Amino acid sequence: MSTVVDRGLEGVVVGTTHLSNVEGAIGRLTYRGYDIDDLAPSATFEEIVHLLLYGHLPNRAELETLKRELGAQRSLPEPLLSAMQNVPKTAWPMDVLRTIVSGLALFSPVDARGEHVSDVHTAIELIAKMPTIVAAWDRVRRGLDPIEPRADLSQAANFLYMRSGKMSNGVEADALDTYFVLLADHSYNASTFSARVTASTRADLYASITAALATLQGDLHGGAATAAFRAISEVGSPENAEAYVRDTLSRGQRIMGMGHREYKVRDPRARHLEAMAKKLSEQASSRWYEIAHRMEEASRKVLQEKKPDNTIYANVDFYTAPVLADLGVPGDEFTCLFACGRIAGWTGHVLEQLADNRLIRPQASYDGPAPGPYVPLEKRDANGARN
Ligand code: ACO
Repeated sequence: MSTVVDRGLEGVVVGTTHLSNVEGAIGRLTYRGYDIDDLAPSATFEEIVHLLLYGHLPNRAELETLKRELGAQRSLPEPLLSAMQNVPKTAWPMDVLRTIVSGLALFSPVDARGEHVSDVHTAIELIAKMPTIVAAWDRVRRGLDPIEPRADLSQAANFLYMRSGKMSNGVEADALDTYFVLLADHSYNASTFSARVTASTRADLYASITAALATLQGDLHGGAATAAFRAISEVGSPENAEAYVRDTLSRGQRIMGMGHREYKVRDPRARHLEAMAKKLSEQASSRWYEIAHRMEEASRKVLQEKKPDNTIYANVDFYTAPVLADLGVPGDEFTCLFACGRIAGWTGHVLEQLADNRLIRPQASYDGPAPGPYVPLEKRDANGARN
């Protein structure tokens, strides 16, 4: 019987989850049964954190308790802040985030067996500290001192405050909060799967989240928003959108922020992000939204000319670009902001994996040379083969 190889595991079910459900054919995303369309305009990120970590939306007292714990956990260990001061200012923000998150393990208490505790409180610590790391590096690389987090603000408002030192207006904090809600979880996407694979070896939360961050980075996944912003900046003006799209596709390249493995219709998160991008762009009098919108229209038009039945639509990363740009976040930090939202889901998935663990270890179909004898060094030719 021939072996079936699923490169990319497309359509392969490798586990179960209670956290979120992606229904790609109809474009629906739910977190524990709640539709993202209902959550995005109404729920705060903190409510979603509670939903994902504790299994239900919080009542008032539970929400206050969670907010207090998040607020209390935001500061970074001083040695990690000092380490950032010694990093070249040119360092890529995702490299800094991944490294400092990994470094948090060095300051984490260990249990009687000498292992880090991977529980809901460690999850909350990671969720709380992630934006502090991103904001601190943002300032350090600009030659500014990091700003101490405030315990009384939401995750979103506190991030904007730590970046600028000023209280943002309500519209900006609300937009970032909704962005975090939209990004919080997405079933077994590549970075979440990576976190679960790591956790399945009984590695701890710090290790699992470090693995997730490493996996998020590439531009086929969370790096796409940065790439989309690069494209939008290059286009520069709405009139250039179609020519850019035609040129990119004619060179066999992809439009970043378009297409999705699961969604065969427009990503439901794109609609909310598009509306936010439009509002922020009007407020900031910027052209990012207009350019992005024209690029999306042009992409659909040109892709349909090429293949009328294609299912390549805007994904979550596409309108992330104008949203974050209008919030003043530099393009190379977009993936870090993605992580500040997705950390809710990552930690939830790791705890879910640990609660009912089985080592994740797939097989590969070997297609290398047939078994043969070892060739001693003196008998090998220049290419390492037998003389
Ligand atoms: N632009 C142009 N063509 C595309 C795009 C795109 N953005 N995405 C897919 N295609 C085409 C491919 O060229 C391929 O065409 P072909 O059949 O003629 O060879 C076809 O669509 C299928 O592409 P695959 O790569 O096989 O599909 P896959 O399911 O692996 O792709 C992916 C999903 C990786 C997201 C892809 O759509 C892509 O590269 N998009 C751009 C990067 C991006 O936006 N990534 C973020 C995804 S969302 C997230 O991770 C948060």
